[in-house]
Amino acid sequence: MNDEPVPGQTYLETLQLYYEEEIEGEAYFTAIAERLEGDAREKMQLLADVETRAAEVTAPLLQRHGLTPRPRDELHAEGRKQAASVGAEYDALIARWRREFPRYMEDFARLEAMAPERDLPALRELTRHETAAIAFLEAEAKGEADSARHLRAYLERAAP
Ligand SMILES: [Fe+2]
Repeated sequence: MNDEPVPGQTYLETLQLYYEEEIEGEAYFTAIAERLEGDAREKMQLLADVETRAAEVTAPLLQRHGLTPRPRDELHAEGRKQAASVGAEYDALIARWRREFPRYMEDFARLEAMAPERDLPALRELTRHETAAIAFLEAEAKGEADSARHLRAYLERAAP
């Protein structure tokens, strides 16, 4: 029935790791949102929602391959710990993520390159969340009025 090659161990481990990082990410951005106010707080909560959605689109692949992620509580604790280790200054956070996030695009591209065909639609949605986050950061850095539209568009499109 299915002639697809069995996915490699590196693919499976990376898939699980990236899923776990999205769960950490939702706690990370939520923790950062909680120490901000107004507009900035809302934007950080939207980023957290984008992470949640990225995890949701990836979850069926873990199920498909029989992978069990680390417990959610543990991942959330890790995300909060990471949030506590970065400064609270909003513009500095945006600048930091503008430097950091583009390299995740390369990671996601490598994951797609290792993936069985069947996993690609979900993985492309996973990759798209990073595209949306980067578009938000660039718009934010330029001071665009509705920078968060990139995040909302992802959440609307990727709705299950
Ligand atoms: Fe993410």
